[in-house]
Amino acid sequence: MSSDVTPVAIIQAAQGFMASKHLFVANEIGLFEKLADGPVALDEIARAIGLPRRTARIVVDAMVALGFVARQGSRYENTAAAQAFLTGRGPMDLRHFLRFWNRLSYPRWDKLEQAVRTGKPLFGELELTKEEQEIFSKGVGAFTTGAAMALATAYDFKRHRHVLDVGGGTGNFLILLLTQHPHLEGTLFELPQAAAVARKTVAASPAASRIKIAEGDVFKDPIPEGKDALILGNVVHLFGPERNLEILRRLRARVREGARLLIVDFWTDPTHAEPVFAALMAGEFLINTGEGDVYSDEEARGWFEETGWRFVERKPLVGPQSLVVAEAAK
Ligand SMILES: C[S@@+](CC[C@H](N)C(=O)[O-])C[C@H]1O[C@@H](n2cnc3c(N)ncnc32)[C@H](O)[C@@H]1O
Repeated sequence: MSSDVTPVAIIQAAQGFMASKHLFVANEIGLFEKLADGPVALDEIARAIGLPRRTARIVVDAMVALGFVARQGSRYENTAAAQAFLTGRGPMDLRHFLRFWNRLSYPRWDKLEQAVRTGKPLFGELELTKEEQEIFSKGVGAFTTGAAMALATAYDFKRHRHVLDVGGGTGNFLILLLTQHPHLEGTLFELPQAAAVARKTVAASPAASRIKIAEGDVFKDPIPEGKDALILGNVVHLFGPERNLEILRRLRARVREGARLLIVDFWTDPTHAEPVFAALMAGEFLINTGEGDVYSDEEARGWFEETGWRFVERKPLVGPQSLVVAEAAK
């Protein structure tokens, strides 16, 4: 064996679940919020949160090890990323995203082996209680807010008047787009339980008067027609190719020639191994629906040819999220 072959990468990847769970727990107990106003001593952290000092120390030290908390003498403070994204004080609140992965995703990942072995759905299709729906919608919305912000500037919305966001979650894409582009009107199309969460977030936004909410199932119900831009954000990864073809056909039937379809997702390279984040997320989508996956834009081009759309371009947005644009063909 060559001496430059080491097991370090294997051990690091294997320990990844410990890093995740420590971070989730630090978030759940409100550690980063407690440190948001400046350095705090361990005794005070334990007292304020209501933890034994010994166990508080274990979580805090793990956060120091991972670089989310820094130790200054006997006191601890948030590092810049934790302060910006895990205290609820910045524009992107990843506390909701960590809660979603901790409470919904993490327990489900226990079933990855079964999902891989059987290829069968293990859970009812997106079957969530009201509380879980709120955690899911807010968690996804927190994560995709970066992509929504990037979309508002990466794509030229001047040519459009009315944007329909299909499976639009909390409405974060429409809220950010319409706030930045005052000439736009928006409609959010969502399943009833998710629409209930969106109604609250949209109502609290500055764009509320320009956003309508339509309830429905993209496979069964009439999709609002005649809009000139459609967003499909993080929806195709929930489904297999056949159902994605069905979605694209149904959307094409509701718009005029020239309308644009903006698909935001974890688009991969043709091997599905890049970006790494996307390759790992394929497991999340498999577990959740039994047919979910990540796709390359080459695959999307094939879908467009079959469903009356023409590929226009692919643009990076933020991190592993990118945009594929198509135009309604004749
Ligand atoms: C991963 S979330 C993405 C939310 C949002 N587009 C974003 O990127 O932040 C997928 C969304 O698709 C919605 N969805 C799933 N199946 C649907 C269906 N059959 N009809 C309408 N919406 C659906 C879900 O309710 C969920 O909010």
